[in-house]
Amino acid sequence: MGLSEEIYKRRTFAIISHPDAGKTTLTEKLLLYGGAIHTAGSVKARRSSKMATSDWMAMEQERGISISTSVMHFEWAGCEMNLLDTPGHNDFSEDTYRTLAAADTAIMLIDAVKGVEPQTIKLFQVCRMRGIPIVTFINKMDREGRDPLELLSEIEDVLGIPTSPATWPVGQGKAFTGVYDRWHQSLLKFERAEGGSNRVPIIESSLDDPALKNEIGDRFYGDLRDALELLDGAGDSFDKEKFLAGKLSPVFFGSALTNFGVEPFLDAFIDLAPAPRERMTADGDVVVPDTEDFSGFVFKIQANMDPRHRDRIAFFRICSGRFERGMQATIQRTGAKLTLAKSLMFMAQERSNVEEAFAGDIVGLWDSGQLHIGDTLFTGKSVTYEGIPRFSPENFVRVVLRDPLKRKQLKKGLDELSEEGAVQVFYDLERMERDPILGAVGRLQFDVVQNRLENEYNVHVTFDNLPYQHARWIDGELDVKEISRRSGTLCLRDIEDRLIVLFSSEWMMNRIIDDYKDKNVTFIAAVQPGRKVG
Ligand code: G4P
Repeated sequence: MGLSEEIYKRRTFAIISHPDAGKTTLTEKLLLYGGAIHTAGSVKARRSSKMATSDWMAMEQERGISISTSVMHFEWAGCEMNLLDTPGHNDFSEDTYRTLAAADTAIMLIDAVKGVEPQTIKLFQVCRMRGIPIVTFINKMDREGRDPLELLSEIEDVLGIPTSPATWPVGQGKAFTGVYDRWHQSLLKFERAEGGSNRVPIIESSLDDPALKNEIGDRFYGDLRDALELLDGAGDSFDKEKFLAGKLSPVFFGSALTNFGVEPFLDAFIDLAPAPRERMTADGDVVVPDTEDFSGFVFKIQANMDPRHRDRIAFFRICSGRFERGMQATIQRTGAKLTLAKSLMFMAQERSNVEEAFAGDIVGLWDSGQLHIGDTLFTGKSVTYEGIPRFSPENFVRVVLRDPLKRKQLKKGLDELSEEGAVQVFYDLERMERDPILGAVGRLQFDVVQNRLENEYNVHVTFDNLPYQHARWIDGELDVKEISRRSGTLCLRDIEDRLIVLFSSEWMMNRIIDDYKDKNVTFIAAVQPGRKVG
């Protein structure tokens, strides 16, 4: 098969959701249908039975959560699906955000009972920032949930993205009868089936067909007709260009637990979700995926599970060309040549050595410390992809070093962990280098850092919690003295010497941003490494 055909078959995507919306359940059903796993429960089992090869892994196991992000590969209807898995726990990390840089599409999973929740909002905003197209799946329709129209208005009001329902539910909760597919004018009849991969009956009938009325009964028929009329009249009609630009989200209703709507959703998804597309480089050039020159970027680095070895795995998204085991590529940042000899591909339950991979695929490269997050690798013409942004942390601690003689090791450890993206390190404006402050998107990152400082650098630290919840990098002439006088703020410098202000509450942050709105100061939520702000 030619390079273009291979690439055209790839769909690389992530599921974004608030914990408990059903991401694990949906992932499991996707893998089950794709034949990548054979029994329901495998994903959950995988999460809880990972081998504990270090304390860090033991910690992951103990808490029953997945600290690390992985990739799952499966096939569906001739397409090669790469599902980027993100931690499902409340205590998620910057990795969750970074993973979205490697995705071409996101499935936004919403619990029909709870609607749009805080983590949905955060992840949605990252997708929006990157212009990632979003397909919405409203889950748990077998439960008494909120009114579907109300859910759609909530998505539009809270997230600010117009929606276009591809399917519409008939009844809900105990009375859930199925969904009407507006695009194919057919009814998908609901049958409860937990676990296995049963197929859902599809009744081909348009709204004027008496068979449809018989099938769902007079009451539901009336409700459905009214709802569809309303949607046809007032709703946004589906526009693929808008969807691809991240400006309109098609919506599907279903119930992952009972398998309902998952299979038709997958069918629709492979048509909707784009194959790897052209990418802009930092210099404004365009790289097409199906070119002979290989290129891509590192979006995540995972330290080795085995503390005796310092090597790590760099998760690499291929953006163009073909990867072959043993090939040589250049690291753009350093100009060094790297032989890609030991590389992994991730299957649902295992990792295997990869011989060949294509644009859209994710490979794990063994790295002895040469690679940084955001690094571009290429063959042929030099390419630089836009780095992976650092997102503003929401949790802060001050590091307390138990043995002051270990200050040098602490600095080395924090420099390396920060480089790896495990945590962000800040220093007071005056007391540079002493008592660093750590910032993280999720609190669990602190435990990981504490653990790794101990195991890998032999440095014992404790943390003092700091009462800040938000942070913004500053571009422009900020009056640092004036800001520092205000209660609930703290001005710091990051490891690249950029000014950042911490705020004790969102209210305080918004007030200050408002005070500065006419003063040529910009408050920034995400910055590119190696760049000045702005
Ligand atoms: P997460 O990964 O997004 O955190 O969610 P997960 O899939 O673990 O699902 C959270 C809970 O919601 C689970 O119940 C799961 O069974 C349930 N769930 C997922 N999809 C549906 C659905 O379509 N309908 C209904 N009714 N429930 C759904 P649990 O009791 O917390 O866990 P478990 O004991 O079932 O594993």
